[in-house]
Amino acid sequence: MKNSNISIRRARVDDIKAIYLLLKSFSDQKLLLAKTEDQLFRLIRGFRVIEDTKSKEIVACAHLDIFSEALAEVKSLAVMQDYQGQGLGAQLVLDCEDEARGMNIKKIFALTYQVAFFEKLLYREVNIKTLPEKVFKECVICPFFNECNEHALIKDI
Ligand SMILES: CC(C)(COP(=O)(O)OP(=O)(O)OC[C@H]1O[C@@H](n2cnc3c(N)ncnc32)[C@H](O)[C@@H]1OP(=O)(O)O)[C@@H](O)C(=O)NCCC(=O)NCCS
Repeated sequence: MKNSNISIRRARVDDIKAIYLLLKSFSDQKLLLAKTEDQLFRLIRGFRVIEDTKSKEIVACAHLDIFSEALAEVKSLAVMQDYQGQGLGAQLVLDCEDEARGMNIKKIFALTYQVAFFEKLLYREVNIKTLPEKVFKECVICPFFNECNEHALIKDI
């Protein structure tokens, strides 16, 4: 990471408001799915955040969600605009991969518009149909199911 004032750590419940607002800023642009604060309380154990240690602000976050013995997903990946391009997004994805690897999970994927970003991290694009765990558990109940143009990218870890 190029900025020495930032540190990555597991999320805490007192980060939820900041995570909510960070995700909202991008879900308003339809780049991410919105999460309510109630949902975030249920999901918080899978979140990691990056904090600006000088301003104490949460500037980035990501969520690792586990689908099966073999498969996990990087979700809710967001880096505040002013902090983009400093390696924070990559750091969060690698942190999710480390946690998944530590749990003996073999593959990790993302559904995203940021194809080039994930390709740089050695993810490869696949047809969403190759991820039935995702499609049948989540995509079918997503309000954007019929208009979803996101790309599925996967990596062996
Ligand atoms: C996508 C996002 C997470 C990237 O975070 P970031 O901190 O800016 O990315 P990084 O600085 O870690 O970039 C890592 C590498 O990917 C490249 N990269 C980043 N965003 C890119 C993009 N949109 N297109 C192409 N390359 C990109 C960087 O240039 C960098 O390359 P380098 O290693 O050769 O220097 C961030 O732009 C973001 O939060 N976007 C809005 C929300 C969103 O779309 N989230 C993804 C949902 S899955």
